[in-house]
Amino acid sequence: MDKERRLIIAGNWKSNKTVAEALDLVSGLKRELATVTEADIVICPPYTALDAVSKAIFDSPLRLGAQNLSDQAYGAFTGEIAPGMLRDLSVRYVILGHSERRQFQSESDALVARKAANAHANNLVPIVCVGETLVEREAGITEKVVGTQVRGSLAGLTVEQVEQTVLAYEPVWAIGTGKTASSAQAQEVHAFIRSVISSLHGEATGRRVRIQYGGSVKPGNARELLGQPDVDGALVGGASLEVRNFADIIKNTLQSPA
Ligand code: 13P
Repeated sequence: MDKERRLIIAGNWKSNKTVAEALDLVSGLKRELATVTEADIVICPPYTALDAVSKAIFDSPLRLGAQNLSDQAYGAFTGEIAPGMLRDLSVRYVILGHSERRQFQSESDALVARKAANAHANNLVPIVCVGETLVEREAGITEKVVGTQVRGSLAGLTVEQVEQTVLAYEPVWAIGTGKTASSAQAQEVHAFIRSVISSLHGEATGRRVRIQYGGSVKPGNARELLGQPDVDGALVGGASLEVRNFADIIKNTLQSPA
């Protein structure tokens, strides 16, 4: 697939996989994806498996991501994970502001923005998630909601930092529900997000920033979704927990046209 921006396909394992299960999944992924060089492939295990997975993937094209980060550099913040601890394990990416954290941990745009700044200050690439609920979509306020999230969650970042940030558009109604946004719906919101970035930081930055789609991405719909001009990758939940599904999402997306 020929794209202006390098594709980034990430697996968000959420609260799944013991260390042994994680290593099992990784050994299958390494076998299936050993030769993939045309896209950035990132796996985001739970914190408890990061160390073992980091060691297991050092000789593979897979890159490592975490699922959250403190907004503080280090110190007396019980239960939080500081950026240096992730860097120590060769973590490169960190998912921030996932809708599950916004919903269940009451994360605000302002907190996500502080976490994103903390990530950048420590050479971690934030994957900043945004997306509307079904009620918001049906009320016709998708752009208002997503625009507010994008502006708020990137507030205070420099142009260079915004350019290096990965955004993930994840409509809440499509997460874990089996309902996927149509490729036209995804493209429409991705183009809107890009226009928001362009209006804040200029056309060049808008053109360079990568925007993933997330929400029931499967081997059967990945190629069409990722074929949209403003869709630069996928953030995959359920289908990233199984070797065959995650590998097929990547292979189906990257295969040359028949
Ligand atoms: P599903 O792929 O399970 O719908 O989850 C998407 C998601 O939340 C990825 O971050």
